[in-house]
Amino acid sequence: MSWLLYGAYGYTGRLLAEEAVRRGHRPILAGRDGERLRALAHELQCPHRVFPLDDPFRLEVGLRGVRAVLHAAGPFVETSPPMLAACLAVGAHYLDITGEVPVFEAAFRHDARAREEGLIVMPGVGLDVVPTDAAAALLHRALPSACRLELALHSPGRPSTGTLETVVEGIPGGLLVRRDGELRSARPGSRRFRREVDFGPDRTTGPMAGLLGGRRSVLPATWGDLATAWRTTGIPEITCYLTAPRRQVQLLPVALPLLRGALKVGPLRRLVRRRVARSGGGPDAPTRAGGRTRVWGRVEDEAGRWAEVILELPEGYRFTALAGIRALERVLELAAGGGPGPVPAGVLTPAGALGPEWVLGLPEVEVIREPQVVSPGEGEEGPAAG
Ligand SMILES: NC(=O)c1ccc[n+]([C@@H]2O[C@H](COP(=O)([O-])OP(=O)(O)OC[C@H]3O[C@@H](n4cnc5c(N)ncnc54)[C@H](OP(=O)(O)O)[C@@H]3O)[C@@H](O)[C@H]2O)c1
Repeated sequence: MSWLLYGAYGYTGRLLAEEAVRRGHRPILAGRDGERLRALAHELQCPHRVFPLDDPFRLEVGLRGVRAVLHAAGPFVETSPPMLAACLAVGAHYLDITGEVPVFEAAFRHDARAREEGLIVMPGVGLDVVPTDAAAALLHRALPSACRLELALHSPGRPSTGTLETVVEGIPGGLLVRRDGELRSARPGSRRFRREVDFGPDRTTGPMAGLLGGRRSVLPATWGDLATAWRTTGIPEITCYLTAPRRQVQLLPVALPLLRGALKVGPLRRLVRRRVARSGGGPDAPTRAGGRTRVWGRVEDEAGRWAEVILELPEGYRFTALAGIRALERVLELAAGGGPGPVPAGVLTPAGALGPEWVLGLPEVEVIREPQVVSPGEGEEGPAAG
């Protein structure tokens, strides 16, 4: 079945393309730079199409005959609106690897249209939000009365330039949390965000030894889960965190508001992005092969009951390639009537549509701590808040 990977010659796009070919696919590789695209298509022996995103006619022509698009060109706040509109216009399912809250929120506004067209729209089939969405769903299943959800990601290693550019683009939006079911702005320096998270026992050896588990300081973060975990679980209070060295945890709440003010100035933001882009690439192959990531989640209800879950998975970019291609395969199966119930359509979350167990079946994903409900006064550990 014909599907298209847009942004194929980017750092993560290439990993997705290689994983697709490894699994026997021959996706149409697409992007706006003909030279880079032709080189990759030749190397991977895949067809290719060159078209930009800022010309709606060429974009729709580029998607002709395509059953599904896996979109890997970011920042998605810039690239998702035209691609999603074109997918809805030509009748192609849409998946992407965004982690950007405004992109998810914009996608959810197309739910009725996607249902009408009988199409599946699934943003976020990468590190954020596939495992975190599954963690949220597992916790909600363990404690359906949960009213509060916290998620934290510990992903040691350096980000790709594309991720850094996306972070630069997102900083002016400030810190968001979900409260009473609504997205709200919050101050990163607020005392309520000062905490440590227990990422469980560290069983790794070799270069990763001591880097994975244990109690770690975290910073609040505007993860895509603020949009997706709300749709997957209906839990009205959601806060997301990521680990950071203690020094950054002390400095960033002060530095971020200043940085936010500066990056609101368009020319300055573009300058910073250009400088970031010059560094090129992301983690090398040995780092991707040896790296591991942990996801922690916790729910609480009004009665004080709580549960925590910890998942371990491959290094973030490798996981994104593994999960992204398998999510696309599963979406195509579901769309072809290969699921247990009626054929799904609309804007769907990964765990909502594929179930939390789907993530547990991905390569090298392990449950480090099963979600078990603890009642007040029970359990030896108590809440993990610092
Ligand atoms: N959610 C997750 O867990 C996760 C994981 C990995 C990556 N990501 C996200 O995926 C995105 C890509 O990351 P990356 O590491 O692959 O970055 P990258 O190496 O910089 O690649 C970005 C790709 O997007 C293309 N692109 C950017 N803007 C475009 C536009 N306006 N029109 C057409 N093509 C455009 C680039 O093409 P040109 O070179 O021609 O500009 C390039 O092919 C980032 O937003 C990153 O945050 C998310």
